Formats: sequence, C-alpha cells, structure tokens
Amino acid sequence: MSARIIDGKAFAEGLRARIAAAVPEFAAAAGRVPGLAVVLVGDDAASQIYVRNKGKQTIEAGMHSVEIRLPANATQAEVEAVVASLNVDPAIDGILVQLPLPKHLNEAPVINAIDPDKDVDGLHPVSAGRLVAGLPGLVPCTPMGCMLLLRDVLGDVGGAEALVIGRSRLVGKPIAALLTNANATVTLAHSRTHELSAHVHRADIVVAAVGVPELVRGAWIKHGATVIDVGMNRIDVGGGKTRLVGDVAFAEAVTIAGAITPVPGGVGPMTIACLLRNTLVAAHARAG
Ligand code: GUN
Repeated sequence: MSARIIDGKAFAEGLRARIAAAVPEFAAAAGRVPGLAVVLVGDDAASQIYVRNKGKQTIEAGMHSVEIRLPANATQAEVEAVVASLNVDPAIDGILVQLPLPKHLNEAPVINAIDPDKDVDGLHPVSAGRLVAGLPGLVPCTPMGCMLLLRDVLGDVGGAEALVIGRSRLVGKPIAALLTNANATVTLAHSRTHELSAHVHRADIVVAAVGVPELVRGAWIKHGATVIDVGMNRIDVGGGKTRLVGDVAFAEAVTIAGAITPVPGGVGPMTIACLLRNTLVAAHARAG
C-alpha cells in the first residue's frame, strides 16, 4: 500500500486563488487593498529569494506590497525605527521582518516592536499568548499551513494522538498549540526525548519539524498515520550534487503512512499562502 501524497503545492495555489478573489470585496468596503511590508536586513542569498517570492505572490493576490531593504550593517535602532514607521502606516496591515537578522542585531526587540495586530508572522509574544489562550489572533504561517493540510486530509483531528517533533518558536510550539486547540492529544518531542521511535509508533498524526535529514524512519510509523514533514534539509549526494530531503525518510514512510507530505511540494508552498491569508485577516480586523 502506498500513502496518499498530500499535494501542498496544489492546495496553496487554491488558497491563494481564494484570497485573491476575496481582495476586491475588502477593497470595495475599505477603499484600499490589504498591504504587506517585508523588511530584509543584509544580503543573505536564501532570504533574498524568500522575500522576492513573498513580494511577487502578494502582488499576484492583488495586494499592496512594500519591500524595505536595509544594509547588512544597519543598527538596531535603524531596524526598530523602520518597524515603528510601518506600525503607524495606514496602508500596511502586515509586517514581516525576515529572519535571521545579521549576527550583530538582537532579534527579540525587533519582533517585540511590531504591532501585534500587524504581526502576520505570528512571532510576537502577544500573538503566541493569544494562540495558547485560544483567543483570536495571528497564527504563524507554517503551522497554520500544516493545520490546513491536516484538516483537508482528516477533517476533525479531535481525539487523535498527535506527535510534534521539534519545539521551535516558529513551528513546533505553535503547531502543538493549534493541535491542542483542535482537541488532539498532543505530545511534543524534542532533542532530549527518550525513545522517539516509540512515540512515533503511537501517533495517528506525526508532524516533524526538527531539521534533521530523514530522522523519522518508515518502520517507526503506525500503519495509516498522517505524516506532515516540515523539514527542508539540503544533503550532499556526491558528484557535487545536493538533494532536498525532509525530516522523514519519505521512501520508507510512503509505504506505511496513510497520507504524507512530500519534500519539496508539501508544507513549503503553504507558508506564503498563509502569510497572504494572515494579511487579509489583519486587514479585516484593522478595518473593523
Ligand atoms: N525565515 C525563514 N522562515 C521565516 C519565517 O517564517 N518568518 C520570518 N520572519 N523569517 C523566516
């Protein structure tokens, strides 16, 4: 038996189309389109590609896109001043500061300077608090993408045994909170967890977000489980070539799982689609 392959690329395209279709309705009522500002400090190559894609997809959705680039030697005060000016800019509904910031900068005060109502990355402590408290708020994009895929595959996740591997602030912790809010029975595993394989074997839902190539073996997985692989690891395959692999050994897992996200083409494309969704949600909330 082979698992259903969860096509995140197709799901994300559909989501972006639905968002684009909702923008004119917002614009007709508010007299403006939703606006997203992305702040990029320095010239990290991967970050530049992410930011370019975010801008492109924002415009394709019919939204206002602002890209603010600061030099690699920008000061803490300069970055925070940019955030402060975006906070009071009426045309901007969402602010995303691309991470990581250059080493000399302190990320926490920059994130904390973002108006929580414009925190489309869901990284502000107020956003994290709202999520854990089950209050309306902006949810981090990759975790939201995982939940949308899970709901599409499973419908209700209530009562399911869910294992989240990885406790990062950006992915693992918010996914654990979202699954908890959706009434799953959640275990949060991490680098100090004993007998990870036994935890995986119990789980109806496995979300792997640790950044360790092919950590989760197929034989660990319960028959028919749903596997969401957030890992994006580039590994050397010899001859100067590299390959992108997830945190799950896909070729093994696909023979045992009920459904599984591929890497690439699974969770990855959902992130920007959810960023646009958050921008529209923030715009509606700000417009009252
Ligand atoms: N860098 C890599 N992923 C992300 C993300 O989701 N948000 C931000 N701000 N920076 C990132």
